[in-house]
Amino acid sequence: MAASRLRVLGIAGSPRRGGNTDLLLQPAMLGAGGQGAETRIVVLDEHDIAPCRHCDKCLPSGKCAIEDDMQWLYQELREADYLILASPIFFMGVTAQTKAMIDRCQALWVTKYVLNLPSTANSHGERKGLFISAGGAKLSDLFGPAIATVKSWFATLDISYAGELLFSGIEAKGAINKHPTALREAFLAGQKLIQG
Ligand SMILES: Cc1cc2nc3c(=O)[nH]c(=O)nc-3n(C[C@H](O)[C@H](O)[C@H](O)COP(=O)(O)O)c2cc1C
Repeated sequence: MAASRLRVLGIAGSPRRGGNTDLLLQPAMLGAGGQGAETRIVVLDEHDIAPCRHCDKCLPSGKCAIEDDMQWLYQELREADYLILASPIFFMGVTAQTKAMIDRCQALWVTKYVLNLPSTANSHGERKGLFISAGGAKLSDLFGPAIATVKSWFATLDISYAGELLFSGIEAKGAINKHPTALREAFLAGQKLIQG
């Protein structure tokens, strides 16, 4: 039987289609996919993902009671070998779309930390993740809060935080195209994620 291919899941967290983080995610996925991996991008804004209600119905089983698109996304998240999250900075954090998905992973947090069961279903060993972001301001601490959120989410999914690609001073739609190295850096970051 042929060995299954490595799976790279890209999460597009911006509601602005074709915006800066979308433009960065694409070459990053190309870089990762060029290593023979299977790639899939999920655009959060195109799916129905409600925020967590803290109903605690996931406590006994690790299964979330909200029947929406998160139900299949849980499976994608559990099976991915590599994850690339692209979210712009909205009010110093990730977008609402991204945060809703992250908060819904409370069910996986329960699986891991309450039920002491694996929160992952992949079969290739260590899982790794990359965080891509852009923000309009030029602040030294612009990405700190978002990075903290992403690291805590990755830990819940047993994904090691393998790198980040962060661009400040990028505001208008498509502004990242004028950056001299950003898209190339994104391709190389995707490649490096897989090559280790
Ligand atoms: C609701 C909202 C909140 C934002 N908050 C911030 C912020 O706190 N800091 C910042 O530097 N940029 C902020 N921005 C600007 C975006 O991060 C910036 O335009 C980014 O390039 C958008 O990426 P995208 O094209 O992938 O959506 C905000 C934009 C919006 C629409």
